[in-house]
Amino acid sequence: MTDLALIPAPRTVEHPADGPRHLTLDARTTIDAGPGTGSTARWLRTVLGAATGLPLTDGAGPGSVRLRISPDVARADGPEGYRLTTGGPEAAVVIEGGGPAGVFWGAQTLRQLLGPEAYRGAPVGGGARELPCVTVEDRPRFGWRGLMLDVSRHFTPKDGVLRYLDLLAAHKLNVFHFHLTDDQGWRIEIKRHPRLTEVGSWRARSKWGHRASPLWDDTPHGGFYTQDDIREIVAYAAERHITVVPEIDIPGHSQAAIAAYPELGNTDVVDTASLTVWDTWGVNPNVLAPTEAVLRFYEGVFEEVLDLFPAATSPFVHVGGDECPKDQWKASPAAQDRIRELGLADENELQSWFIRHFDRWLTARGRRLIGWDEILEGGLAEGAAVSSWRGYGGGIAAANAGHDVVMCPEQHVYLDYRQAPGDEEPVPIAYVRTLEDVYRFEPVPPGLSPEAAAHILGTQANVWTEVMENRSRVDYQVFPRLAAFAEVAWSALPAPEARDYPAFEGRMTTHYRRLDALGVDYRPPAGPYARQQRPGIIGRPREGTPPNV
Ligand code: ACM
Repeated sequence: MTDLALIPAPRTVEHPADGPRHLTLDARTTIDAGPGTGSTARWLRTVLGAATGLPLTDGAGPGSVRLRISPDVARADGPEGYRLTTGGPEAAVVIEGGGPAGVFWGAQTLRQLLGPEAYRGAPVGGGARELPCVTVEDRPRFGWRGLMLDVSRHFTPKDGVLRYLDLLAAHKLNVFHFHLTDDQGWRIEIKRHPRLTEVGSWRARSKWGHRASPLWDDTPHGGFYTQDDIREIVAYAAERHITVVPEIDIPGHSQAAIAAYPELGNTDVVDTASLTVWDTWGVNPNVLAPTEAVLRFYEGVFEEVLDLFPAATSPFVHVGGDECPKDQWKASPAAQDRIRELGLADENELQSWFIRHFDRWLTARGRRLIGWDEILEGGLAEGAAVSSWRGYGGGIAAANAGHDVVMCPEQHVYLDYRQAPGDEEPVPIAYVRTLEDVYRFEPVPPGLSPEAAAHILGTQANVWTEVMENRSRVDYQVFPRLAAFAEVAWSALPAPEARDYPAFEGRMTTHYRRLDALGVDYRPPAGPYARQQRPGIIGRPREGTPPNV
């Protein structure tokens, strides 16, 4: 399969026993789009049309790219499965998908077969393109194949988000977890609470490096997505068969919101009116006050969020729930009164009360709540799903209790973690997680019962951007590791130790050329270029192998 260099690796590839080895797409090539395949036809015409200069007009016949939904493929391989045949007698290319998404993933494979030049924005050679004659049969291992992007710590402007959606699609990833709010910035316009973005989306300066660094970047930082920007992002994702999971953090990670509306904080123990959007990194003590007014405020936020992220493409809504220090609630007479009034045992139950409230609220509106694995503490909300980030443990406990789980253990798939030992990695954070380490990540821990394992919806990689101040830094941390992650999430790989990493590396040789054509500023296999390094900026490397917990 090295010759085709498909990433993620498909289930099967067959070459014809006899007949031509190649066919040509040229100015006569048409697109023959059956019912339900319109988004893929549009995408092919836009993307392959731009890269090749071919008109790819509508039309059927032997020279066409035929797109069909196939009940047979749906039965055998599910809605995201596809069968791709090139060089057959009836059409130049036939893509049959189990559903619209399967057709789209088949089209992504077609693009890979056309060579790295198919990833350019305009043709660099002649018009006609050679294509190998093959049959590919394929389907994903997991239904949830995601990337979380933190746009709070450093803002990714809207065009950068659209670009990442294209990069996800190119790797057959289908969930974009959009981390929209945090202590350091609120990034989504909420009409009924305008100060969330007027005040909460800007900070005066930023810590330059890990929080232990003495350096500051005194350039004000910020930005936000208008509601139309969000609608555009959601529609752009839907065209690419990507669901978007918006994340609005409660009750911790809320300093930007409190800076905008001081009444959201624990006003009896802190002077919240003097808080600003946070300018450094770490776990922040300023958390939401457990009042009815705060619940109503956030119901208003979530009402607008549900409107912007429709149920069809955003069945899940993420409420954060991680890293909520309880010190202010312990010190606050108002919070203590609340604990007594509600008949709760302690501050952990207060945290659960927050989460349960929004679990019921979202469920009543046809959505499902998902939160970081801390939402297990003090009792897991009914129907809630868990992003298992502190290791496998939270996910195992949740799955055993019948809750759905997305595996994203920090020890394996936190892409802010450094990619190599040594001094050259820019602002090195935590453990070394190489391309090979990510390739050998296994989302389903051993020993789960079949019933519990069925609750593992899939996996996602997380990108926290404290030390990624621009698009190049994000690209550097995400790539090439996202390619390995995509293969873990999509392909039928054997157990970690049996995975053929050298073969994957071989395919990466071609994949780097695809990333080059796309303008991705990945970490080169031989290590960072000088311009990618950040000498003198303090990180926080941890030594040794991360515990496999
Ligand atoms: C997290 O990394 N705090 C979810």
